[in-house]
Amino acid sequence: MIRKIFTMLFLSAGVLSASAQEVSLSKGWKFAVGDSAQWASPTFNDQGWQAANLNESWEQQGHPNYDGFGWYRTKVVIPSSLKNNSFLKDSLRLNLGSVDDNDEVYINGKLIGKYGGYGGTIKDGHYGARSYTIAVNNPAILWDKENVIAVRIFDTGGDGGIYSTGHGNVFNLTMADVMDHVTVNTGADFEYGENNSLNKSIKLVTTNKYLYSGKLAFKVVDPENGTVLYEKTNDANFTSGKPFTYSFSIARLAKRSYAITYTFTDTKSGKSIVKTETTPYVLTPYPSAKVKINGADVFGARPGNPFLYLIPASGKRPLTYKADGLPEGLKLDANTGVITGVVAQKGDYPVTFTVSNSLGAKTKKFTISIGDNIGLTPALGWNSWNAWGLSVNDEKVRVSARAMIDKLSQHGWAYINIDDGWEAENRAADGKIVTNSKFPDMKGLADYVHSLGLRIGIYSSPGPRTCGGFLGSWQHEDQDAQTYGDWGIDYLKYDWCAYSEIVPKPDLPGLKKPYQVMRGSLDKVHRDIMYSLCQYGWGDVWNWGGEIGGNSWRTTGDIEDTWQSMSGIGFRQGDAAPHARPGHFNDPDMLVVGKVGWGPSLHNTRLTYDEQYTHISLWSLLSSPLLIGCDMGHLDEFTLSLLTNDEVIAIDQDALGKGASQYVKKDDYQIWVKDLKDGSKAIGLFNTSDKYQTISLDKNDPAISGYTKFRDAWQQKYIITAGNALTAKVAPHGVLLVRVEK
Ligand code: GAL
Repeated sequence: MIRKIFTMLFLSAGVLSASAQEVSLSKGWKFAVGDSAQWASPTFNDQGWQAANLNESWEQQGHPNYDGFGWYRTKVVIPSSLKNNSFLKDSLRLNLGSVDDNDEVYINGKLIGKYGGYGGTIKDGHYGARSYTIAVNNPAILWDKENVIAVRIFDTGGDGGIYSTGHGNVFNLTMADVMDHVTVNTGADFEYGENNSLNKSIKLVTTNKYLYSGKLAFKVVDPENGTVLYEKTNDANFTSGKPFTYSFSIARLAKRSYAITYTFTDTKSGKSIVKTETTPYVLTPYPSAKVKINGADVFGARPGNPFLYLIPASGKRPLTYKADGLPEGLKLDANTGVITGVVAQKGDYPVTFTVSNSLGAKTKKFTISIGDNIGLTPALGWNSWNAWGLSVNDEKVRVSARAMIDKLSQHGWAYINIDDGWEAENRAADGKIVTNSKFPDMKGLADYVHSLGLRIGIYSSPGPRTCGGFLGSWQHEDQDAQTYGDWGIDYLKYDWCAYSEIVPKPDLPGLKKPYQVMRGSLDKVHRDIMYSLCQYGWGDVWNWGGEIGGNSWRTTGDIEDTWQSMSGIGFRQGDAAPHARPGHFNDPDMLVVGKVGWGPSLHNTRLTYDEQYTHISLWSLLSSPLLIGCDMGHLDEFTLSLLTNDEVIAIDQDALGKGASQYVKKDDYQIWVKDLKDGSKAIGLFNTSDKYQTISLDKNDPAISGYTKFRDAWQQKYIITAGNALTAKVAPHGVLLVRVEK
């Protein structure tokens, strides 16, 4: 699996526990690479095997670059006191930390669980936490005797083995508790009802046969002052196959999040399960029917290459488009707003766009810059990874493109990028890269995306294989770049991955080299292909990513949809930020708003609504590429409001291309300031604490002195301030994003 260099959380694997509720499995493991059916057997002699460290992959324990099969074994006495002391006495749970990438688990030679319950085969990667439930009367278990646990692992690529990460760090045997396998399912979207109501249904769900009978307490609190706004307790009964549904409707009068707590208490056992969530609130004004021309003020393209630009304009359809001053070689489709053609001559061409509908017309001055530099403002688009992981396919890409055209391109969103998972297992006989069966016709797909006026991206690695174990471009760089050109690709994300097998410990020139090789190959292709370097920030890439021809470079390991991950990455961008400039931007990784999942099943982002405002505000201040990472087929009202706020997007797309500086850094809050092209500034007042904070800048503070007008970018309205100081009460993990003007 992926080398999550920066995000791996090595939490302690647990200490040998003497408690009657659990038997620790954190010690005593041995392992071997290879494969043999004998290794499941309790009588197999594993004395010669290597002791396993459960904090490390097998690569880190003397098997660099090893992919394929390996086995882990340990011996443990399972005391019957475990079940005797438990309220429920049905099943035992085997918690196996995290498995990379897939597993089969044997107790005393008998298979008791496999593939994390996902189905398929051991060769399908299902990297992640593992927990198996075994009936107490399963004859595989020898109560009060020594048991041999053997785990067969298959690693599809990258790191492999059993080890603890943030995804699963518990190695033990416990009895299934009353509240195990009980979920308070809050996955449904909030509905925005009439009269400012916010409605939702949640479910109490279990796979246990036990009849849960008790009370569900529902409580809504204003986090600023602890005021309880709603409180209600209902009877709730549920069991396997018969969930309990609770529907509620609350008023959404204030523009802020409330905290909801759901507590179910089972009467007989006295056990409880608690789940919390916050309520959404939309700040982006309701879209106007009048025409507005949105997006950046400039677009760069190379002379002689195919040109494609969709004029982003919102307002009641149909719209009619006009462009005055287009350079020779370009033509505009007046009905779609798509400009195509080829410009031969370098130069900055001032253009005036006019867009009209039944309610009137708007104009906007725009620059078409024909030269060597492309990507003059950060890319705005979608990438498949955070939503679909390796399960991306042609259909999902088309759905995303369609959704972008219907809902987002009016605001400047333009790229549809396919991440890992499109490549075949082997190259064609002539060495050409080919797609796997999920992408039957890449050229056809690219043509479709282009026909909508959007651009399409693809993914590869300089190594022999990608992080997902697919084919990389190693020693086929020219050929692959040519193939991308033939297909009509507009964006390449180039991810280090298995290049570590070629150069395990690169020095600075070594870090640059594979990216320079592909740069050379892309330069031979007559297309404007945005070049996105992905090597997790190694060697402080922000110092040199632009020089070697990257339009953007990842500054970090992989993001996850948690506050810890998103804020940890975002607020650490201070060193990289000054290196952002037109055509060359820091990339703190893709967005984690909306429905994400990194695989076939998705969930709502675990970020609170305020955290999502922080995410988009901070990334915009940083001039980061904004690459949506969610299911575009199911954009809920809140997510859509986050992604269609033109004044916020304008901060990201500002033509000066600066990254914000970390102006104030305190324990509880931070202030980031970004200079904008028109002389105004964008300022983010971020509350990084768990409580409401008042955050202020004095009127004489150099960041705002001389600036008299403060505009709330999310609400798109001027803030009335006392004495020209900038002061705001900011929600926990939330932000006030302002544009200060003279
Ligand atoms: C990781 C990369 C992710 C994604 C993934 C695909 O290395 O950081 O963004 O591209 O590989 O396997």
